[in-house]
Amino acid sequence: MRTDTGQIVHLADYRPTDFVLERVDLTFELDPTNTKVEARLIFHRREGVDPSVPLVLDGDELTLSGLLIDQSEAPASRYDATPESLTIRDLPAETPFEVTVTTFINPEANSQLMGLYRTSGVYCTQCEAEGFRRITYFPDRPDVLAPYTITIIADKAANPVMLSNGNFLGGGDYDEGRHFAAWFDPHPKPAYLFALVAGDLGVVEDTFTTMSGRDVKLRIYVEHGKEPRAAYAMDALKRSMKWDEERFGREYDLDIFMIVAVSDFNMGAMENKGLNVFNDKYVLADPETATDQDYANIEAIIAHEYFHNWTGNRITCRDWFQLCLKEGLTVYRDHEFSADQRSRAVKRVAEVRHLKSEQFPEDAGPLAHPVRPTKYREINNFYTTTVYEKGSEVTRMIATLLGSKDFKAGMDLYFERHDGQAVTVEDYLKCFEDASGRDLEQFSLWYHQAGTPLVTASSSYDQKKGTFTLSLEQMLPATPGQSNKEPMHIPLSLALILDNGQIAAPTAVKGGEMTGDVLHLTERKQTFTFSGISSRPVLSLNRSFSAPINLHFDQTPADLAHIARHDTDLFARWQALTDLAMPNLMQAARDAREGREITCDPALTAALLEAAGDEALEPAFRAQVLTLPSEADIARELGGNNDPDAIHAGRHAILSAIAREGNKTFLRLFDEMKIAGPYAPDAASAGKRALRNSALAYLTYAEGTPARAAQAFAAADNMTDVAQALTLLAHRFPDSAEAQGALDTFLKRFDGNALVIDKWFSIQATIPGAGALARVKALMENPRFVSTNPNRVRSLIGTFAFGNPTGFNRPDGEGYRFLAEQILSIDPKNPQLAARILTSMRSWRSLEPQRADHARSALATIERAETLSTDVRDIVERMLK
Ligand code: PHE
Ligand code: ZN
Repeated sequence: MRTDTGQIVHLADYRPTDFVLERVDLTFELDPTNTKVEARLIFHRREGVDPSVPLVLDGDELTLSGLLIDQSEAPASRYDATPESLTIRDLPAETPFEVTVTTFINPEANSQLMGLYRTSGVYCTQCEAEGFRRITYFPDRPDVLAPYTITIIADKAANPVMLSNGNFLGGGDYDEGRHFAAWFDPHPKPAYLFALVAGDLGVVEDTFTTMSGRDVKLRIYVEHGKEPRAAYAMDALKRSMKWDEERFGREYDLDIFMIVAVSDFNMGAMENKGLNVFNDKYVLADPETATDQDYANIEAIIAHEYFHNWTGNRITCRDWFQLCLKEGLTVYRDHEFSADQRSRAVKRVAEVRHLKSEQFPEDAGPLAHPVRPTKYREINNFYTTTVYEKGSEVTRMIATLLGSKDFKAGMDLYFERHDGQAVTVEDYLKCFEDASGRDLEQFSLWYHQAGTPLVTASSSYDQKKGTFTLSLEQMLPATPGQSNKEPMHIPLSLALILDNGQIAAPTAVKGGEMTGDVLHLTERKQTFTFSGISSRPVLSLNRSFSAPINLHFDQTPADLAHIARHDTDLFARWQALTDLAMPNLMQAARDAREGREITCDPALTAALLEAAGDEALEPAFRAQVLTLPSEADIARELGGNNDPDAIHAGRHAILSAIAREGNKTFLRLFDEMKIAGPYAPDAASAGKRALRNSALAYLTYAEGTPARAAQAFAAADNMTDVAQALTLLAHRFPDSAEAQGALDTFLKRFDGNALVIDKWFSIQATIPGAGALARVKALMENPRFVSTNPNRVRSLIGTFAFGNPTGFNRPDGEGYRFLAEQILSIDPKNPQLAARILTSMRSWRSLEPQRADHARSALATIERAETLSTDVRDIVERMLK
């Protein structure tokens, strides 16, 4: 483990390298514990750089075992080698020159899963962000691009498959039962996109014919026996390749595209050039073992990594501060892909739910940072939902502001102008400015100012003049390191909905700019007047969630119900129903805390049931309507002094009231949404299952017995239904024989299938209430709990901390103390995993004082530990600041 040096990297310190890397030749002699890496690097000195300037290469836990300069052994006087760097002096005045570095590394001992490691007998690499320096000394930064030639030598029997980036050059037998394979990647790339995989793997093959008529070989590598479970991923890959051609004009650029699924992986997946490496959770699926959500995730992540080929690989980041340049844009692209493949409105609802539950709390807490930060201590900690999801929202806003034609022109210009380069957010924005003629100076604040803007709206209608007046005020809360903020350029899509449900077309808008249905809020306070409005309209604001803001607008339940019934923007209809539910849920939490009786507004129940039963709406959308804001959502709205038990109790009471009132509707839906015939993962079928399972949940609430869920569990013929029934049983009736029986049946049936056993752990980790912690501790003793497998650790410990508000936030603080112990035990093995799970405590300051106190002291215990990784130290110190 690299321990913290306290060093902070600043964007302002960026400067280009002194040496330009021309090409890279790597030879790997693979051995589980002693792999030899020989790196031949050809450099030339950049013009104007003094010949006395040394070449400094990055390392991480490396030992140098050989150094040649222009093929002759370098005398010790010419270099200094430490585990973190190799400095070479007195370089030849004539350039280019060649540096050959030899290192030996131990893949088997690599538990942080960065650099070259072994997982289930397979060699595999992870180099983003700074993993390549754990393989060899190298200028490990994203603005150093070169073509790579790779030679892999390994035992033939154990490693029949040997892969790297680019196109296959050739291979053959070598010495002592070994063989070799050579790969060449002609596209200059930074080291973070390097990948190597070797082992004994099964493969699924296909071909894709590109828009210019080239045949590309597609290969997905999985563990032997799992090939049938890669079929959906292959299908998603082909659809992604086609979509990127049609929508963005992007064609694939190598002869082969490969995906490898591995079971030990810190993140979701990695876009290495031509050789994506995936957490197998996002590749493997079949109806028996994967839920509809799993299928949707696979489709989205396969697309995401594939789309990186242009947004990330062909055009990459100048430095890691520009991470959103590739991630925000690529998330935007995968969102659009899923919206086109499935239902746009339902996809948007899911995106916004996710944004609000993950990114909004980050932006409102001690870990808040701009989409484009200006400093970091540990780059691994900036793979955040702010960089990814808010980054995507920023690109979505550019599309909204410019309109689809200018947005497309801007994207085309970006691809044309910057292909092959490592660029910045400014370069990206300039393309849209040049293509549209619009000034994006003020808009660029979205990249620089952290925090979620709060927009407060008030309105009035003048019958005599036929005018509707809308006053808006924006406020951006202070965030760490940023106390004073400038007003932002906020695009607000709106509709004025008349009595008859029609959308008004104003004859004029005064007070600011409006393009199409988008109002441009640019001042701190701004008043807009709409003329030609014949009757009092109901305002639907921030439709489609056109801007990632918090909106305060006091609307009556009747107005919200009107929007929910009539808006042509389905997202806005969902939002209106949520806005109707939220005050009820908040009041219920307050009432529960004070021991008062909890009531549910009949208007809410009526509106929800009306939408749920509306056959003109697609089932997936109706299911979203029935999914009330989560406990975390309610906590966020309440803002502070939160008592998770009261929030849980209040929400439970509201759900029960709706369940009783809607009994007939739910019985009918449970019946009607039943699908006859075999499982298909398509969006329409998934929507029916979602609606049916939602009805099942309400019925279970109303009935108060496990019988119906137990029946559903027994009858289920796919993992979506199995998991939902099991969750209902375990969460609602944890001590029942039905729940125990179902958990045991599930375990017996799926033992040995790691991804399904992860679900078995997660479902139990999220059982609410006081028994949760003991249950989690007991599960850690289960032999199936493997503390080195990130998916397994996340499924139990991560899910408990992130997804069990009452169980984790026990009033006695034992949940926090438990987490602190776990973080300290995971950190030495896998700092990235530890740091990520620790962020589950990012909202600790909004807890009521007793819990907040316990949380603080648990965090302080971590902070006091003598050795901490940079990853964990960075997070814990920012959280306590
Ligand atoms: N770049 C990967 C992605 O977005 C994420 C990742 C980051 C994976 C760092 C591994 C390590 O798709
Ligand atoms: Zn990505």
